[in-house]
Amino acid sequence: MIRETSLDPSDFIYPLFVAEGIEERRPVPSMPGVFQVTLGDLNEEVDELVRLGIPSVLLFGIPGHKDSLGSESHAENGIVQRAIRTIKARAPGLEVVTDVCLCEYTDHGHCGLLNNDARPGLPEGYLLNDATLEVLGRIAVSHARAGADIVAPSAMIDGMVGRIRSDLDDAGYEMVSVMSYSVKYASAFYGPFREAAEGAPKFGDRKSHQMDPANKREAIREARLDVAEGTDFLMVKPALAYLDVIAELRAVYGELPIVAYNVSGEYAMIKAASANGWIDERSTALEVLTGIKRAGADIIISYFAKDVARWLGREARERR
Ligand code: PBG
Repeated sequence: MIRETSLDPSDFIYPLFVAEGIEERRPVPSMPGVFQVTLGDLNEEVDELVRLGIPSVLLFGIPGHKDSLGSESHAENGIVQRAIRTIKARAPGLEVVTDVCLCEYTDHGHCGLLNNDARPGLPEGYLLNDATLEVLGRIAVSHARAGADIVAPSAMIDGMVGRIRSDLDDAGYEMVSVMSYSVKYASAFYGPFREAAEGAPKFGDRKSHQMDPANKREAIREARLDVAEGTDFLMVKPALAYLDVIAELRAVYGELPIVAYNVSGEYAMIKAASANGWIDERSTALEVLTGIKRAGADIIISYFAKDVARWLGREARERR
């Protein structure tokens, strides 16, 4: 009764990796319990999430074909577009959030289009901001057309929220929300994800557009820009090393929901240590997730979502 913070399955968004060109679900070695699934596996996934009371999924696609323009990202029959339609046909009430980025679709693994010709003043391989914005807008509209409820631009490209918002509105999708990865640090904790989504940059890194872990004032500034451009949610990523940033955003932008992404490396650490018998998985995970919520997150994106729902369900049954 006097507990200040409690977790509920409805606090969570579960990330799903849907892959083209695989015959059956494939485990992600660095993320025990996480799989790349096929379109054919989706009904079963969806039924399980609904049964567990998890209201939402975050979709990532692994296309069969990658090219320098990331063409599959906005294809009518792209893997994510088909996955959205499949999920919505099975469970119309399950909220579908889609990752809007190019890194899983480009053969170079960067989050946008790169300069290929030696334009004056632009080094080769430089990320082209405006050309990328146009593609991000097309991706968002293609997801909305397929039935997505929320699009989550994760590229950290300047102006992406505004562009996506206006492209959605122009296409008649005013009801589709934008969940910007507003505060995304250049973090070492994304390592396992890059194995899961096969989106590691082939050269260079993302330091030019992701934030320096040392900066908090910059986080406020990034969030302010996204709020001005019309984001409906503010996301902080990763979560665990940035609880102060979550708390600060909650204090400054109390009117918007704050989303924390409990990322792949945070998941893998607990999995690895518990597999060695060094910590207890359930109590460590629940402690971490409770801490993220206590810091000010309203919504948590976590690979632990299904486990949490099972653990909480068991606790509730034990109390009865
Ligand atoms: C980019 C994206 C990344 C993650 C989510 N969206 C990778 C990156 O920014 O390099 C990481 C999520 C995780 O580590 O769990 N599309």
